[in-house]
Amino acid sequence: WTPLFLTPGTPLSLTPRPPPNRPVPPQVPYQPSSPRQVANALELLRGRAGKTVDLGSGDGRLVLEAHKQGLRPALGYELNPWLLCLANYRAWKAGYHGSVSFLKKDLWKVNLSDCHNVIVFLAPSVKPPLATKLLAELPDDARVVSGRFPFPCWTPSSSLGQGLEQCWAYDMKEVRREAKSRAQEKSQL
Ligand SMILES: C[S@@+](CC[C@H](N)C(=O)[O-])C[C@H]1O[C@@H](n2cnc3c(N)ncnc32)[C@H](O)[C@@H]1O
Repeated sequence: WTPLFLTPGTPLSLTPRPPPNRPVPPQVPYQPSSPRQVANALELLRGRAGKTVDLGSGDGRLVLEAHKQGLRPALGYELNPWLLCLANYRAWKAGYHGSVSFLKKDLWKVNLSDCHNVIVFLAPSVKPPLATKLLAELPDDARVVSGRFPFPCWTPSSSLGQGLEQCWAYDMKEVRREAKSRAQEKSQL
């Protein structure tokens, strides 16, 4: 007898499985950002203000740094209960308990229309559907910072770091302008 989670070939993921008969969103395993990735992501948000969220916030390291940098309110959406516990513990240890929030919410189901800064350290497979969601919901003055992997169809306003430490910043106004002009070009063909 082998417990299900030890069956050879079963991918080891901390992300809870969706109930049967629901469409399966792309899976994103937990892989914490390195200190350099955290620094690069936050540098790309320097001088900004407003609601800041990390989509899939893991142990909360990006949210805690965002709060430290003055980005408020800072919150993380995460499904894994253990990581939520760890994030809340780290917030309490840092003296931020009550000032930052870690919510057990599915990033595909939250409304992002009041977010000004969005951090995404997620797998490349989720980037196309996530781009559609961000384009539909974010305000024009929002900035998206993506770590490890860029959004394949968007042109970044700036980027920082090399290799897997690289982060890209996208300003939604520019991203929308580019998408519009691409659509116009297509319609003229
Ligand atoms: C690559 S990790 C990044 C963690 C953290 N942002 C960091 O950089 O240290 C991605 C996280 O997204 C979480 N996640 C995956 N799917 C999610 C979903 N649908 N809603 C909320 N969180 C999700 C995973 O549990 C995991 O902790």
